[in-house]
Parts: sequence; structure tokens; C-alpha cells
Amino acid sequence: MDDVRSIVTLKTAKIAEIKVPAQTEIPTTDLALQGARNLLVNCVGLQAGDRVLLVEEEYGLGYFDSDAPQIVATEARRIGAEVLTMTTSRAPGPGAIPAALTAAMEYVDHTIFMNRIGDQMRFKSLPGRGSKTMVYTLDADMLAAGSTQLPHLFMVRMIDAFNSEMSQAKTWRVTCPAGTDVSGEVPAEMARQSKDTGNFTVNLFPTSVHKPLPAGSMNGRIVLGRFITGTNTNVYSPEVHFIESPITATIENGRVADFDGNPRCIDRFRAHSKMVAELFGLDETLIHSWHCGLNPGTAYFGKAADDPVRWNGMIFGSPRHLHFHTCGDYPPGEINWHIIDPTVRFDNQVFVECGEVTFFQSARAQALIKEFGIVPAQLKTEQEIGL
Ligand SMILES: [Fe+2]
Repeated sequence: MDDVRSIVTLKTAKIAEIKVPAQTEIPTTDLALQGARNLLVNCVGLQAGDRVLLVEEEYGLGYFDSDAPQIVATEARRIGAEVLTMTTSRAPGPGAIPAALTAAMEYVDHTIFMNRIGDQMRFKSLPGRGSKTMVYTLDADMLAAGSTQLPHLFMVRMIDAFNSEMSQAKTWRVTCPAGTDVSGEVPAEMARQSKDTGNFTVNLFPTSVHKPLPAGSMNGRIVLGRFITGTNTNVYSPEVHFIESPITATIENGRVADFDGNPRCIDRFRAHSKMVAELFGLDETLIHSWHCGLNPGTAYFGKAADDPVRWNGMIFGSPRHLHFHTCGDYPPGEINWHIIDPTVRFDNQVFVECGEVTFFQSARAQALIKEFGIVPAQLKTEQEIGL
């Protein structure tokens, strides 16, 4: 325990400046441990005597830090589990699971990925009968953030409620302060599948997103700035394309019909998209689906522009963020288009307004909030998202 406290204390100077809703009087060290416990007990279902495999990334890649896995391992041992750790590379694609990892997964009761390989495999059928969980808290600071302090079951049920309500709607519309304004239809079959959270074979922690809305019926305009990124599916390089000045994409029936903006920026944007499409035999004009973040405590404490790949890998949980899965006819495609401070409407009812989840005010959400004893400050969107 002391070792863990010293790890987190190193970062306390930075954390002290960040407002953690309704948790300000609790030391960061304890928050990180509480986050780990929420993951292990409430999400993974870890019990004393269980065998758990913690899959880490190679040291020095700078994506996951080494502190967060250590805190999770310490808490798992404290619960009484047997912890096995394994370090492996990110796979070239979802179909390339290393044989040693497959064997290890068959041997344990639970596999926890603090490694992007878990993200790559989230739509695949995986070996072994144990639980699989992908963790998006990339460092000790994120493990202490508000997103991990909301009880896992509360977020699961809140997102179930969101999925259920949005699935009853006929239409959706997404706007943003930069000028995005697109709309489309909610497919009728979504109402029948509202309990299905997106065909994932891996649990996600913290739970943060609603079911993706198909974009095949989408029309309007999407304004893109800053950068676009990969989707943590297949590996390619460069994974980030920086956009020097905003580009407006005109969308017709789920496909890019035209771009407007600086001609040089558009040419470069098209060239990058085509490069990715040709690598995997895809149509870069196709937009598959979109979703918005719903976990208000999601925070990114670094600068997104310093490492957009890392930012992309966890920021999707923030209600200040929405992304479109593009370049590919499968979820999640190969290129993410990022929208900041979205407003999301279903049948003209506002569910998310400029990065705040107004759905939390609905009678159905309020009943859950009361049941779990969540205080309003915990549901206010964290503004620190690295921009
Ligand atoms: Fe996504």
C-alpha cells in the first residue's frame, strides 16, 4: 500500500489544481485506489482466490504509464486474487492475437487489458471462458479521476437507460459550436436491440459510451479541425493527420460528397484518407456510425496535440467529445473524426447540450441517480480534456 501511495503522491502537485467533483477532500492516492477497486470488484467481478491476468504494454511506449497497472495489481492482491502479469506488443490488427496471450487467457478467470491489444480485439470472439476487460485509465491520474469514481453498475444502468430512450426515437441530429450540423434516422431495429451495447466481447472500464448510431442515412455538414486519428483497430502510420485550418465535409446519405475549406488542406486530408483506405481496401468516403461520450468525469490532463493517438484512445468517454467512425463499412472503421462540445438531439429532444448530458435530468435518469446516491457535482462534465 505504501508503495502505491508513493507512486501517486509523485503526481499530486498536478492533480491538486484539478477539480475532482465532490471528491476534493479525498486524497488523490485514495481516489486512485478507489478507482482500481471499482474496476476490480464492480466491473471485473474479482473475488478472493480468483486468478487474474493483467496484460500490459511494453515499457517506454508512453501510452499507459507503469503506475496505473501497479496500482490495479496491488489492489487485486489485496482483494486476495492471484495476479499474473504479461507484457505484449500492440497487435498489427484484430486478427493477430499472440499465441502466448491466447494460452494465458485460457488459464485465468479474468483478463484485464491495460494494453491497446484489448481495444483491438473488442469486437472479436476471444479465447477462454473468463471475463475480459479493457481499461481506459492510462495513468494514475486518470485512475483517480471522476470517471472511475462513479459506481460501475450506475454507469452501466445509466447507459442502458440512454440506449433504451434513444432507440425509441425516429431521428437524431448532431450540432457543434464549430458549425457541424448533421442529422439522420434511428433504425427501427435499434429499439429491439437497445440492451446490446455494441457487440463488444470485452467489458469496457470506465463505461462511457452509448450504442453507435448508424450513419447511412446521415445528411448535412461536419466541420473538422485540429486532427483526425486512427480508431485503435488496425495499426498504420501516420496514425494522426493534423488539419491546419477547418475543413467542412458535406455529407449525403452517409458518404462524403464534397469538402470546403483551404484547397491545400483539403488535398492533404484527401491524400491521408486515401492512404488509409488503400492499405485496407476500404472506401474512405464512407461514414459508418457515431457516438458521444457519457461519462462526465472523463479527464485528460496532458495536451491532446502532444499525442492525439493517446488522447483518442480514452477521450471518447467525455460528453465534450463525439466521434464519427469513418473509412470502412464496419465498426469502428479506421479513421475517427472528432467533434468537440456536441449537442445531440433525438426526435428534437436534447440529450446532450454542448458537452453536458441533459439526459441526466430526465425522470428515468433521476431515479437512478437517487438509487445510487450520486451527487449533482459528479455529473457535471469535467472541462479538462486536453484542448
Ligand atoms: Fe467509437
